[in-house]
Amino acid sequence: MGKVISIHSFRGGTGKSNLTANLSATLAARGYRVGVFDTDVASPGIHVLFGINDVPASASLNAYFWGNCSIQDAAVDVMPALEGAGVPVSASGALYLVPASIETGEIARILHDGYDVGLLNDGILGLMDHYDLDFVFVDTHPGVNEETLLSIAISEVTIIILRPDQQDLQGTAVTIELARQLECKNLQLIVNKAHRNADHAVMKASVEQKLGAPVIEVIALSDDMVQFGSGGVYCMRFPDHDYSQAVGRVADCLVAAGTASQLSDRRVS
Ligand SMILES: Nc1ncnc2c1ncn2[C@@H]1O[C@H](COP(=O)(O)OP(=O)(O)O)[C@@H](O)[C@H]1O
Ligand SMILES: [Mg+2]
Repeated sequence: MGKVISIHSFRGGTGKSNLTANLSATLAARGYRVGVFDTDVASPGIHVLFGINDVPASASLNAYFWGNCSIQDAAVDVMPALEGAGVPVSASGALYLVPASIETGEIARILHDGYDVGLLNDGILGLMDHYDLDFVFVDTHPGVNEETLLSIAISEVTIIILRPDQQDLQGTAVTIELARQLECKNLQLIVNKAHRNADHAVMKASVEQKLGAPVIEVIALSDDMVQFGSGGVYCMRFPDHDYSQAVGRVADCLVAAGTASQLSDRRVS
């Protein structure tokens, strides 16, 4: 059985979608079978990183929620988007994205009606089973909202991303408290957009002390990432860059946590 990992933040613009796309691509390139769900239904966007401009409303997470398509029909094979980018991609890897609809009417409807987290859970498990996935990432909407908190509750690992910013720190403390109330099993923090002159070890210790949760990585603010502007999956284009190396270390942690021996059988180096 694969692992469900939700990527969350209290505030927007912290780097969730970029991290989710880069982490999932890194694992798929290494030979793992990966799914990604865009549950940021209010402001979907991760599809853009995989080179998808148009999400048909008839084949999206929204359509699945309304009972108009199966979860397999909503999933797009985005592995071809990784091939030819420069990084060798293992033949045994797989990457499927379930995008959310970008149509105004669809967004308005889901914001008004909400969605059934039980259906999300069924969809995740259904896709995992259908494609024999090792990991499913859930890219969430920022902040404290019912659906996102419940998606944390159905995940084996929750990663909360924050910037080194007082507003992010305070909001993350609230999110952590709620996640703990939901008996979140494995909570990890990532600090993103740290100033290049900051001492990452000192920052990690300080955030861990303030928030009482482990920081798995401190990622620097990168001018190159700003310039790239979500123009693709960065680590596939620039694997030696500090950002890509940091993503690689997070991927190592996820593989090491729990089911590593079961997964290593599949990995082709
Ligand atoms: N480490 C980083 N350094 C510089 N820019 C970054 C970094 N991580 C993400 N970004 C940029 O921040 C913006 C928001 O990222 P995104 O992944 O969309 O955040 P979220 O999904 O949390 O709203 C994007 O323009 C992205 O390229
Ligand atoms: Mg996002």
